[in-house]
Amino acid sequence: MLDSTLTDLEARAPALIRQAASPEALEAARVEILGRKGTLAALGKDMGKLDPRIRADFGKRLNALKRDLEEAYEAKKAGFERAALDARLASEWVDLTLPSPGVRPGKLHPLTQIQRELEEYFTSLGFAIVDGPEVETEWYNFDALNIPSTHPARDAQDTFWLADGNVLRTHTSPVQVRAMEKFGPPLRIIAPGRVFRNEEVDASHEHTFYQLEGMMVDRDVSIAHMLYFMKGLLSAIFQRDVTARLRPGFFPFVEPGFELDIQCLICGGPGCPVCKQSGWVELLPCGLVHPNVLRAGGIDPDQWGGFAFGLGLTRLVMMRYGIDDIRLLAGGDLRFLSQF
Ligand code: PHE
Repeated sequence: MLDSTLTDLEARAPALIRQAASPEALEAARVEILGRKGTLAALGKDMGKLDPRIRADFGKRLNALKRDLEEAYEAKKAGFERAALDARLASEWVDLTLPSPGVRPGKLHPLTQIQRELEEYFTSLGFAIVDGPEVETEWYNFDALNIPSTHPARDAQDTFWLADGNVLRTHTSPVQVRAMEKFGPPLRIIAPGRVFRNEEVDASHEHTFYQLEGMMVDRDVSIAHMLYFMKGLLSAIFQRDVTARLRPGFFPFVEPGFELDIQCLICGGPGCPVCKQSGWVELLPCGLVHPNVLRAGGIDPDQWGGFAFGLGLTRLVMMRYGIDDIRLLAGGDLRFLSQF
């Protein structure tokens, strides 16, 4: 009886192992045949009941079968492991000889683009591009510009005052005075740059934004000269008809002073958050340089005159591209920026 079980196993077991279709099937066959409670173990136990004369022979056969099956099991297992590794290598294979996807080309920020266009326009008309510090003294930011200490612009609600008494410049106008000191008359300068106001941020207000200051000092400079440059600037930027209006505006450093507004290009007139529902956007405050400012810059107002303007660069960008929220400009979102 034991003998026929062994013979049957010798015939059946090697195929069971060699033909296992999966690692799971192989493991099941191992447990069934070679396991601690498997068929071979049972035969080994029962062997004790055999006639001692045939027991030795039976034992040899049993051992030989066990060895063969173990070998077959190990070989089969190694085969499965190799196949699994091959499959993994095939799926993780990378062709290092393929060309790289390339560097994504960068672009200039829309503010920088407009700034450069304006620099081109003004340098073609003989203006120099100058720069000034963003941390400015109270003198250059206010006093030299004829802004008395009682002026509301000095209020802490508008100005970032630093502990040492300096300010983050609230406009680019201090560069007017620095330029007059440095170059003397006659002069034509523009000064693009970053300015700061202690403002509540919303769709049309930022604490940090950009202006482009312009100044011309010469003999007999009039409002007509000023308007010539203002109009040229607008058509250089918009390349189309924009409706503009000039109205009196008060700035202590110009006399007379004006506000040049353009009709809001976001809403076209009816009113929106960007134009504060007025249909007009203040874009270009300007005027003839106040004698006190010329004096502060070391220039004799009886001999020389000039005009100055302070273009809101950030606003200009919003108008040109129809951007209805100022916060997008500093947001650093490439999906937004890559459109320009
Ligand atoms: N500096 C003014 C401002 O920031 C603008 C301005 C500049 C007005 C030059 C007139 C002349 O509001």
